[in-house]
Amino acid sequence: MVYRALMAGRAWFPDAVAGRLVVLRRHVPENLVAFRRWYADPEIARLARYTEGPMRLDEIDRFFHARAVGSDALAMAIHVQKTDRLIGTCALSQLDGDNGSALYHITIGEKNAWGEGYGTEATSLMVAHAFGALGLHRISLSVFAFNERAIRSYRTAGFSVEGRAREAIWRDGRWWDEISMSILEPEWRRRVEIEQDKGGPDQVDAPAVDPSREPGVREPPMRRGVMARITGR
Ligand SMILES: CC(C)(COP(=O)(O)OP(=O)(O)OC[C@H]1O[C@@H](n2cnc3c(N)ncnc32)[C@H](O)[C@@H]1OP(=O)(O)O)[C@@H](O)C(=O)NCCC(=O)NCCS
Repeated sequence: MVYRALMAGRAWFPDAVAGRLVVLRRHVPENLVAFRRWYADPEIARLARYTEGPMRLDEIDRFFHARAVGSDALAMAIHVQKTDRLIGTCALSQLDGDNGSALYHITIGEKNAWGEGYGTEATSLMVAHAFGALGLHRISLSVFAFNERAIRSYRTAGFSVEGRAREAIWRDGRWWDEISMSILEPEWRRRVEIEQDKGGPDQVDAPAVDPSREPGVREPPMRRGVMARITGR
């Protein structure tokens, strides 16, 4: 499977991606200690888990080994830029090379780091990496309707609501919708162009646009990316 080969090599994934507020780094085995604390927290479980209550210790360990340091996802640790404090994790999973898509996940496990803009910037950096470096076309996610902080953060990072699974989650004694959000590469590219026009953040790693190409007759984006170089398609 192409994706497995990609993950095994990891050469296509940088050691670090730096923004203004956070720096994303590859996970190291020592981060397991933080994962055990974050994912044992009932408040984090309430916001992010389908199942009632937090993960058991053995589940957290399996999750960490598969999804943070293992090859089941493209995961990065989130560190505060100024202090290098480890505050969370974000990941792209289910990378689908045929359709240029992936699922996005994020957890800022250190609760006193919520609401500081770290999550939004980490998401923007991952989106930029997915479209700019990997050449994906679509990133999607799902979020519970009561998780207003997350929804707001995803919107700021460029995601739009594309649907909702009605009353899919039972939490706090009532039903809630599960909201599907996504961002497409042309939407991200447009945002980058607007930022550049404003002289804004240069962290978004946009691939160069070939001026000789007529508008609307571009190759599918993923063919230009790293994934295309590896798959040869
Ligand atoms: C969701 C999460 C990644 C967001 O990251 P963050 O660093 O806390 O969020 P940010 O500070 O970047 O942005 C939060 C936005 O929501 C707003 N906000 C903060 N607290 C809020 C609240 N209780 N209700 C609604 N909006 C809130 C902020 O003002 C900000 O919006 P703004 O940029 O327009 O001012 C992080 O809070 C987290 O990991 N939470 C726990 C796990 C989780 O919910 N994961 C997502 C599962 S889908």
